[in-house]
Amino acid sequence: MPRTAFRTALITGASAGMGAEFARELASAGTGLILVARRLDRLEELAGELRAKHGVTIETLRADVSTEEGLASVEASIAKSASLDLLINNAGFGGRRGFVKGELADHLNMVRVHVDATVRLTKAALPGMIDRGQGAVINLSSIAAFSAFSGAMYSGTKAFLVMFSQNLQDEVRLKGIVIQALCPGMTHTEFHRVAAIDKSIVPKLFWMTASEVVRISLRRLGHGVVCVPGWKNKVIAFLMRCPATAAVVRLVGRTMAVRARTGER
Ligand SMILES: NC(=O)c1ccc[n+]([C@@H]2O[C@H](COP(=O)([O-])OP(=O)(O)OC[C@H]3O[C@@H](n4cnc5c(N)ncnc54)[C@H](OP(=O)(O)O)[C@@H]3O)[C@@H](O)[C@H]2O)c1
Repeated sequence: MPRTAFRTALITGASAGMGAEFARELASAGTGLILVARRLDRLEELAGELRAKHGVTIETLRADVSTEEGLASVEASIAKSASLDLLINNAGFGGRRGFVKGELADHLNMVRVHVDATVRLTKAALPGMIDRGQGAVINLSSIAAFSAFSGAMYSGTKAFLVMFSQNLQDEVRLKGIVIQALCPGMTHTEFHRVAAIDKSIVPKLFWMTASEVVRISLRRLGHGVVCVPGWKNKVIAFLMRCPATAAVVRLVGRTMAVRARTGER
């Protein structure tokens, strides 16, 4: 259960994976929800389930946050909410093609979903939270933010979210606002299917469930900006950043990435 009680949370990418899990966890604690994604049918199904189970108020909003129209509609929803005190910038996706082989349009799309949407929605949500003297923003980064083999665009955009969150926390600390950069490792969601990544190349012991990640995130909110869930992920993140071990981790990671691309085992 979340340590802090929230009145209303807006979650992008709530139609699957960790976004849907945040919705389940927060609804069980009585938080009203605004659920955003492109697949409205999925959002409606989840909203129906959670309203029936927990009796909370839930709005659903079909929006593609990679588009101007989609972002504007989420911003309008934020402006309308008089009680929004938690924003979860969760919508995201991976890709298995490299920077050179991949299409520029896909790279820019990733920047729009991971970076532009987070910046725009955070900018829209903070004034109300600051006026009300409390609020929190969770930005879905990744352990890939610390890795030099997870793709120039994926790691690059996720690393932005870590620095953005850390610097933003410094700026709003005295205004009652808490910021978290959530950096999960391998987590069972639809992410890998969408990105056509073969999950079997990563040993089972490295995986967490979305529910485990979400519970840790909510429990750790306000206890340090960067939240790396699970001790195994913490060790990996440390080894990725430690000068003595970074090269070895990179070699192992690159080998796994190449195997994933070529379909080898
Ligand atoms: N799973 C992992 O191993 C892992 C590890 C580290 C970090 N992450 C990060 O965790 C976040 C959540 O991913 P997940 O693992 O839960 O993946 P997921 O199950 O594939 O869910 C991704 C969500 O993002 C939404 N989304 C994607 N593009 C969107 C767009 N243009 N506009 C609106 N919504 C969009 C999808 O909804 P619609 O398709 O309905 O729009 C879906 O609800 C992502 O930011 C991801 O980078 C994942």
